[in-house]
Amino acid sequence: MIKSFKTIPFFCVLFFGITNCSKNIYRKNIQPDKIVSLKNNFKNNFYVGAAINENQILEKEIGSNSIIKKEFNTISPENSLKWMFIHPKPNTFNFNVADKYVDFGIKNKMHIVGHTLVWHAQLADFMNKVTERSVMMNHMQNHIKKVVTRYKGKINTWDVVNEALNEDGTLRESIFLKILGNTYIEDAFKLAEKADPNANLAYNDYNLCKPKKRKGAIRLVRQLKQNGAKVNEVGIQAHWQLNSPSIKNIEESIIAFSKLGVKVMFTELDISVLPNPWELVGAEVNQNFEKFEGDEKMNPYTTSLPETVKNKLAKRYQDIFKLFLKHEDKISRVTFWGVTDKDSWLNDWPIKGRRNYPLLFDRKNQPKKAYHSILDLKSVSK
Ligand code: G3I
Repeated sequence: MIKSFKTIPFFCVLFFGITNCSKNIYRKNIQPDKIVSLKNNFKNNFYVGAAINENQILEKEIGSNSIIKKEFNTISPENSLKWMFIHPKPNTFNFNVADKYVDFGIKNKMHIVGHTLVWHAQLADFMNKVTERSVMMNHMQNHIKKVVTRYKGKINTWDVVNEALNEDGTLRESIFLKILGNTYIEDAFKLAEKADPNANLAYNDYNLCKPKKRKGAIRLVRQLKQNGAKVNEVGIQAHWQLNSPSIKNIEESIIAFSKLGVKVMFTELDISVLPNPWELVGAEVNQNFEKFEGDEKMNPYTTSLPETVKNKLAKRYQDIFKLFLKHEDKISRVTFWGVTDKDSWLNDWPIKGRRNYPLLFDRKNQPKKAYHSILDLKSVSK
C-alpha cells in the first residue's frame, strides 16, 4: 500500500517530465520567424524597434534584454551615440559603448540606427564655447567623418540632424545656426553621405504632426533636396499623449512627408498617461518644471495604472497602429523610446520623479494590454 502511494508521485514526475520535455522540443522546432512578436507580426509592413540604454547595450538587464531580442528588429541608442559622450573634447573620441551598441545590433541581425550626429542638446561643452565659424565647421566635419566612417556599412540609418526647427517652423537659434548660418543642415547631410554613401539619412524632430512645424519641415526637406543633399527619411519622434495629436493630424503628416519622396519613420514613440495641464506637448528638453515636483495631482498613479486608463492606452496604441498599417507603403520604421515603463525618460520629464506608463511592457517586463492591442491587428502569417 505504502509502496503504491510512493509510485504515484514517481509517475507524475515522469509524466510531467515527458510533457515538459516534449514542449521544449516543440518550442525548439518553431521557426524563429513564426514566433508571435512585434517584429514577426509586422515583418511585411515596417521595422519595429526600441531605443536601448547603456545597461541594455551591455546586456546587464536580463529581463528587458530578452524582450529586445524577441520583439524588435531595429534598435536606436537612447543616449550612447550622442556628441557629449562619444566626442567630449576636440580630439577625444570615446567609442567604447557605441561599439558595443553596434555589435549588439549586428549579433542580433537588427537594423541599426545612429542617433544623432548634429543636435544642440547633449552636445560637448567645447562646442558650446566655439565662436568662430571655421572652427565650428572643422569640428562638425571631424565629428561626422569620424563617427559615420567608423560604422560605415553597419549603422543603416542616421538621424543626421535632430530638432532644428522651432514650433512655428522657422530654424531654431541653436549654436549651429548662430555660428555656421543656415546652410549647416545641408552641410551635415552632405558630409554624412560622403562618409557612407549607402546609409539612409534622416531629419528627425518632434511635433511634426502640428501643421505649422510640419510646414517648416516640409520646406526644409524640399530645400535640402533641391540643393543636392540626400534625404531618405523623415523621423516623426512621436512623443504623444492619450488625446493628441489627432489621428487626422498624424495621417496628414504621413501623406505630406511621403509626397516629398521620403519614407516616414516614427522614431521615438511613447504615450504619456500623466496630467498635462499646460497643454505641454512634444519634447523640448530645456523647459523647467521643478516647482511641480512632488505635487500629487501631477503624479496620480504611484502604485498602479487604473483599468480605465490601461484600456485607453491600449485603444490609443491600436488606433495609431491601424493608421500605420493603412499607410504601410509610406512607413519604414516604428521605434518605441524605451523598452519597459521603468526605462522611460517620461518618469523624469517634464517633472522629475513621476511614475509614467507610456510603453508596451510594464515594470516587471510583462506585456501590457497595449501590447496585445497592437499584436492583435496582425497575425504572424498575415
Ligand atoms: O550622463 C549623466 C550621468 O553622468 C549622471 O550621473 C546622471 C544623473 O542623472 O545623468 C546623466 O545624464 C542624463 C542623460 O540622459 C544620460 O543618461 C541626464 O540627466 C538626462 O536628462 C538625459 O536624458 C535624456 C534626454 O534625451 C536628454 O535630452 C534621455 O535619457 C533621453 O531619452 C532623451 O532622448 C531624447 C532624444 O535623444 C531626442 N528626442 C527627445 C528625446 C527625449 O528627450
